This record gives sequence, structure tokens and C-alpha cells, in this order.
Amino acid sequence: MECIEALKTRRSVRAYTGEPVPRETIEDIIDCGRLAATAINIQPWEFVVITEARMLRAIAGAAEYGSFIAQAAACVVVLCRNTKYYLEDGCNASQNILVAARAHGLGSCWVAGDKKPYAEKVRKLVGAPDTHKVVSLLAIGHPAEQREMEKRPLSEVLHWEKY
Ligand SMILES: Cc1cc2nc3c(=O)[nH]c(=O)nc-3n(C[C@H](O)[C@H](O)[C@H](O)COP(=O)(O)O)c2cc1C
Repeated sequence: MECIEALKTRRSVRAYTGEPVPRETIEDIIDCGRLAATAINIQPWEFVVITEARMLRAIAGAAEYGSFIAQAAACVVVLCRNTKYYLEDGCNASQNILVAARAHGLGSCWVAGDKKPYAEKVRKLVGAPDTHKVVSLLAIGHPAEQREMEKRPLSEVLHWEKY
């Protein structure tokens, strides 16, 4: 799939078929996260990929609006070292991962990490050090639903030269 098409057709998926995703596909998706733009090229990120059912259930149980993580083929926990731009960097890598998943024909959904009280619990669950913040939890799997959220039109959000 072309990059522009993947960007324009990605939508959050919160229901998955249960079919596994090959390890090489996950690795390619994470590689796209690894290559994201990052302030001063610090690359503060670490990616923990959860595929075991027990851990998927534990993370799903911790995340307030992320119960569907339990049905996903994988959950990518995006962590960043607590640098000045950790949140921007981690979000950027997260978005790359969502789009790469789409390009591989997979569904995904971002579940909030940073700012959520359960972020600490998830950090401990995956065994990450306290020097790092959980930026996002990214569910990935074969989609069992297709949803269309209403999007603001380009004409409303695009401002040439001045607001
Ligand atoms: C920072 C952030 C946090 C989000 N947290 C959740 C969440 O906790 N649970 C969830 O189901 N979706 C979550 N989402 C997905 C949004 O609800 C979704 O992106 C939005 O409704 C737009 O729909 P779309 O992704 O299909 O374009 C989150 C998205 C972002 C960017």
C-alpha cells in the first residue's frame, strides 16, 4: 500500500479476529517507529511488544479504555526516557507504527499512556525502569471491524499564510 493511502485510510480498530501476526511483520512495523523524527536525534524510545495472552489481558485490565487490547495479536508499549521532548518523540514513533500497521493491512488503535494514572502500572508490568515513561499502548491485529469517524474537512483546518 502506498504511504499516502495508508495515512488517509488508517482508522482506529477496536475489534480483532484473533489471527496471529508474523513476527517479521511486527518487526517491520516497529522499525518504522524506530525511524521516526526525534528532537536532536535523541531517539529516547524503547518498544516492548506483548503477544502473550496473559500479559495482553493484564494490560487490557489496567488500561481504562483499552479492554480490546486483550483480543489484539500484539500490544506495543511505547516507552521513552524522560527527556525534554519525550512526549513529542514518543507520539511521533507511535503514529509511524499505526500507519505502518495499516500499510501491512492490519488494524490498530492507540490507547493513552502518558498522563494516565495506569501508566505506572503498565511500566511495572513490562519491567521498564522508572527513568522511562509509558507514552502509548498500541493494539495491533487483523481487523474485525471497520469504523469511520467523522473528520473535519480540509477546507476548515487548512489556513494559507495566516490563521
Ligand atoms: C493520545 C491518544 C489517546 C487515545 N486513547 C484512546 C483510548 O484510551 N482508547 C481508545 O479506544 N482510543 C483511544 N485513542 C484513539 C482515538 O479515540 C481515535 O484516534 C479518534 O477517535 C479518531 O479516530 P480514528 O483513529 O479512527 O481516526 C487515542 C488516540 C490518541 C491520539
